[in-house]
Amino acid sequence: MSFDPARDRFRTFGRAKGRTLSPAQAALMEAHWPRLELRPGDALPPGPRWLEIGYGMGSHLLHLARTHPDVSVIGAEPFLNGTAKVVTGVDHEKLNNVRLFRGDVRELMAALPEACLARVLILFPDPWPKARHNKRRLIRTAFVEELSRVIEPGGRLLFASDIPHYVDWALSRFRAHARDTGHGFDWTGFDPERPPEGWPGTKYEAKARREGRTPYWFELVRADT
Ligand SMILES: C[S@@+](CC[C@H](N)C(=O)[O-])C[C@H]1O[C@@H](n2cnc3c(N)ncnc32)[C@H](O)[C@@H]1O
Repeated sequence: MSFDPARDRFRTFGRAKGRTLSPAQAALMEAHWPRLELRPGDALPPGPRWLEIGYGMGSHLLHLARTHPDVSVIGAEPFLNGTAKVVTGVDHEKLNNVRLFRGDVRELMAALPEACLARVLILFPDPWPKARHNKRRLIRTAFVEELSRVIEPGGRLLFASDIPHYVDWALSRFRAHARDTGHGFDWTGFDPERPPEGWPGTKYEAKARREGRTPYWFELVRADT
């Protein structure tokens, strides 16, 4: 399935740029970006490959790369300042298993071959809580279809959210996809109230907790068909 500007016309993210990068950040971007950038259609890094969608300021993505040196960690995020933060971390920690796409992950996914990802993480996607903005939510029927195309059978999807309405919305779409296709996502028996082992936290999760909201985690497995 390709990226369809008519179907995918609603922007799912807020800002793509914040403060001007510091001269040091700009210099690191210039030095490392050509090596780190993964454009749609580029040859993929070696497997196993994990994709973190919407990594924000990138602390969780850096944690993944640091703790799983044998995994190629791919990040997709349109926010330049978060990208610069990850590039700085990659430089400081000398990580060599990170590739980054700066933009709408749906464009990257449309160019991915089937079953090329062992794991996908969607951690606290933009909630778009107002009813008139719900159409901007990333997790939609077409997106769930794309996820099930690019995740390998037996591969895992971790989804976290602190917005009960988004949780219901997302789970009902995963359930409907499984029912309609017979090869969707199954539960892994994961407890939604407990973070995965070794969970380092994310910036948005900390904000949610400060504001009195409870985070939930859902681990799904791509049916082995
Ligand atoms: C609420 S923030 C959460 C950031 C981070 N995961 C965390 O927990 O701190 C959601 C992030 O998803 C990104 N995002 C939204 N739509 C996206 C898309 N279509 N492709 C890639 N990233 C997206 C936004 O730019 C934003 O940084």
